Amino acid sequence: MEVKEEVHLKVEEKYQPPAQLVERVWIKDYESLYQESIKDREGFWAKVAEELHWFKKWDKVLEWNYPNAKWFVNAKTNITYNCLDRHVKNGRRNKVAYIFVDEDDREKKITYGELLELVNRIANGLKSLGVKKGDRVSIYMPNTIEAIACMLACARIGAIHSVVFAGFSEGALRLRIEDAKAKVVMTATYTKRRGKKIDLLATVQNAIDGLGFVEKVVVWDRDGDVLNGSGGLFVSLNELIKNSSPECEPAQMDAEDPLFILYTSGTTGKPKGVLHTTGGYMVGTYFTTKINFDLHEEDVYWCTADIGWITGHSYIVYGPLACGATSVITEGAPDYPNPGRWWSYVERYRVNVFYTAPTAVRMFMRFGEQWPAMYDLSSLRILGSVGEPINPEAWQWYYKHIGREKCVIVDTWWQTETGMHMITTIPSYPSKPGKAGKPYFGVEVAVVDNKGKELPPNTVGNLVIKTPWPSMLRTCWGEPERYEKYWNTIPGYYLSGDLATYDEEGYVMILGRADDVLNVAGHRIGTMEVESAIVDHPAVAESAVIGKPHDIKGESIKAFVILKKGVEPSDHLKEEIKQHVRHILGAIAVPDEIEFVEKLPKTRSGKIMRRVLKAQELGLPVGDVSTLED
Ligand code: WT7
Repeated sequence: MEVKEEVHLKVEEKYQPPAQLVERVWIKDYESLYQESIKDREGFWAKVAEELHWFKKWDKVLEWNYPNAKWFVNAKTNITYNCLDRHVKNGRRNKVAYIFVDEDDREKKITYGELLELVNRIANGLKSLGVKKGDRVSIYMPNTIEAIACMLACARIGAIHSVVFAGFSEGALRLRIEDAKAKVVMTATYTKRRGKKIDLLATVQNAIDGLGFVEKVVVWDRDGDVLNGSGGLFVSLNELIKNSSPECEPAQMDAEDPLFILYTSGTTGKPKGVLHTTGGYMVGTYFTTKINFDLHEEDVYWCTADIGWITGHSYIVYGPLACGATSVITEGAPDYPNPGRWWSYVERYRVNVFYTAPTAVRMFMRFGEQWPAMYDLSSLRILGSVGEPINPEAWQWYYKHIGREKCVIVDTWWQTETGMHMITTIPSYPSKPGKAGKPYFGVEVAVVDNKGKELPPNTVGNLVIKTPWPSMLRTCWGEPERYEKYWNTIPGYYLSGDLATYDEEGYVMILGRADDVLNVAGHRIGTMEVESAIVDHPAVAESAVIGKPHDIKGESIKAFVILKKGVEPSDHLKEEIKQHVRHILGAIAVPDEIEFVEKLPKTRSGKIMRRVLKAQELGLPVGDVSTLED
């Protein structure tokens, strides 16, 4: 009882950023710049774009043919030129771009000069394999400097990368390679997690079996003991690097040329390939990284995400590099070999800006504050949060035990589709625990009912975006109708799929998804995707999946399963079904709970009513069941 009341009070509490931090932030007055950015959105983004290098300037900032946008029309640039060459030419050649640490505490640093050479060598290597502008390259690699270099090598020559999180298993990987029709797949022999080697190459071999369009698999042979030279389908990345020139002219990319595809879950069984383009994405990620993390020249920045997710793309790779930052990246589990791992790196590298997910914060809460207490975390200035709403308890813990009450917490709301932060607290104005903050510069949001009527403060509704922004998705790969759905479900608005409310001061509070999409440990998982993996098991007739509140993961997966006639339910079978999901989708999508049932609640048209199952499961009122068949 007591705890709950306290939490409620703290939701309304405001936390002022420390004065010496505010003194030097890039943007001191949010309100006036926000108003300016909305009045002249194009002028605002053009001014930001001027900070970057363009081979040719734009004719027009925005061309908006609802729902299709073109940003920086006819401009030419290359994002790797802005991420690498620009710095190397301007005094950052010997500045460290990444500090990598693996689970065995082996460290590897790479400077901007070295990274540029590495990227160029790989880019030349890809060219030698016949990769051309517009070709798709799937990347299935661990969170390492090498993987980042592969992404940048694609961007260097205009190939479209499609990074697949290395925790996904072969079914998920195959679907993504197939959908993108990747000409080349890049991978590594293994990754290490919790002391165990995970064979990535074997997964790729299975995933591409029979996919004739895959011409080459480029393999980073991490210990140099797997690939016997290069030949046939498999090519050694090590050899490509060794045998290629360190110079490679960046391709002149149109601002609207595709940069990458990243698959994300939707409400159908098939994930959608969110497509981002070059110019607008570059401008959006550059500016949000610089402002929201208040990055300065000497800062050490650490985003704990994986390059397999949008957070990795925007805030490990493109944003920080465009800013010329020094970033920490790690491979492996946050709590292995012990829960002090992350905090020891904050101390060792004097990390100033730290960006993680609420699920990680809650995990460390459970381990106890004695772990961070062992380390000097005084270098920290800004703490970021992303992936799901941060509950006030976790916010307080993060503030107190990591930030030592001297840091600003920026809660950043955005999506794979938005490419950049859209609603966030910026370091110059007070934060409110549990509320993400205010709309970003140039971004107009609203909370509306299902018909699109704007709702007053403190009312829950659909979170929508009213106007285009530079790093917005341009389409869904091969499925333009899915792109249009974002904009025509509630005509005139981009529908985020989240529920939200805002207060009198304009702070937006995100309440979670409104659709059949789960958020498990900050990862987006479609209920339909899990259901189809379950139904793929030979003993299963039908399945329905729901999310249940979970202390650490935010949501956990529960599956209701109808078995085929004659199949005996058993615990062994439950285990088997879980293994099957692990095999098809990967560990993150495995249900925590399986319940065998005889029937599922359905509408008369046969759609499973997951919300009825969920209400029953949680003992909540079931709501309107007039469409229920039985
Ligand atoms: C969904 C997007 C954006 C990178 C990570 C996830 C939820 C994300 C927040 C936040 C509340 C958040 C939303 C959103 N979400 N950040 N700060 N507060 N919810 O990317 O997989 O595209 O998922 O994550 O529900 O729609 P994603």
